[in-house]
Amino acid sequence: MRAVAASGYGPPESFTLADLPVPEPGPGQIQVRIRAASINPGDLVIPSGAYRAQAPLTFPHVPGNDFAGTVTAVGDDVTAFRTGDEIFGHAVPRALEAMAGAHPSMTTGTLAEFAVFEAATPFLAHRPPGLSPTDAAALPTAGLTARALLATTQPQPSERVLVIGATGGVGTTVLPLLKHADVIATGRPADEDLLRRLGATTVIDYDDYPTGVDLAINLVLPSDQLKAVAAAVRPGGRLFTITFPPPRPEMIDRDDIRFELVLDLDGRFGGMAEVAGLSPTIAAIYPLDDAVQALTDFARRHTVGKLVVTMS
Ligand SMILES: NC(=O)c1ccc[n+]([C@@H]2O[C@H](COP(=O)([O-])OP(=O)(O)OC[C@H]3O[C@@H](n4cnc5c(N)ncnc54)[C@H](OP(=O)(O)O)[C@@H]3O)[C@@H](O)[C@H]2O)c1
Repeated sequence: MRAVAASGYGPPESFTLADLPVPEPGPGQIQVRIRAASINPGDLVIPSGAYRAQAPLTFPHVPGNDFAGTVTAVGDDVTAFRTGDEIFGHAVPRALEAMAGAHPSMTTGTLAEFAVFEAATPFLAHRPPGLSPTDAAALPTAGLTARALLATTQPQPSERVLVIGATGGVGTTVLPLLKHADVIATGRPADEDLLRRLGATTVIDYDDYPTGVDLAINLVLPSDQLKAVAAAVRPGGRLFTITFPPPRPEMIDRDDIRFELVLDLDGRFGGMAEVAGLSPTIAAIYPLDDAVQALTDFARRHTVGKLVVTMS
């Protein structure tokens, strides 16, 4: 099969489109012919070597977590899926198993014509007929995170909400869910129309923060670089982040606001069935032949929303 492959730690420019053996499912696993996969930051961070001490990779490594596809083989003890089922979801590289949640969803890598997944997880589901493979592939990670953010941050209708990193995959998925709040979103001048259509009332430059917001949601800056964002929050307000390192009060020089990480490794805020109701923003769709270019564009170019790779 054709698959994106990293042959060692490095940037996306070092990846190739390789010819690899089709992975076969073992007990509790399913094999899926991938129809579409979308790109997330982790697809680049893991092969970069940033986590090689905690989660060393074996090579060739096939990146890709999010996908939509057709079940082509089912291992022993799998009851939730049958051959021919149209499914979609999210899974992480097997090397990350120790860092994943209680019911980890693991894969051989979705930027490939075939991938194998552990079947017993809330992060795989049947794809509703009205949800296209490209939209289904764009939604899993961003949608799960957007739902977790909404449930955790609980924005109230009249609140002023600052969203840092609104132009990304998570940002463009969460903005429509915040539509009852007064949303101030970061973006470049050319992004303003799209961000407003998604629900932002104001679009600001990356470091042009307002003051006195009720809630700030950080989707991009490292959590230990949030002092300026914290300064934008009113006393008694809240600052939530989805990035690492895990937040500690001394990182923001304030003890009068909530400062917390939003991370849902176990599907506490819903699984794929709930995510299917969300609307993705897709910036571009690439054929598998151009998948390495897609990963490189994701790393090097400003894109608003998700990049999706289609396999046929
Ligand atoms: N906790 C969780 O459960 C969870 C889940 C999913 C993702 N994450 C993490 O959350 C982060 C965002 O994920 P994503 O999929 O949305 O990534 P993404 O698609 O790469 O989006 C990040 C966006 O932020 C923009 N940006 C860069 N620097 C900025 C700045 N200083 N101020 C404002 N915006 C800036 C980027 O634009 P440029 O083109 O200008 O760089 C890009 O549009 C990643 O670190 C990811 O690993 C965490």
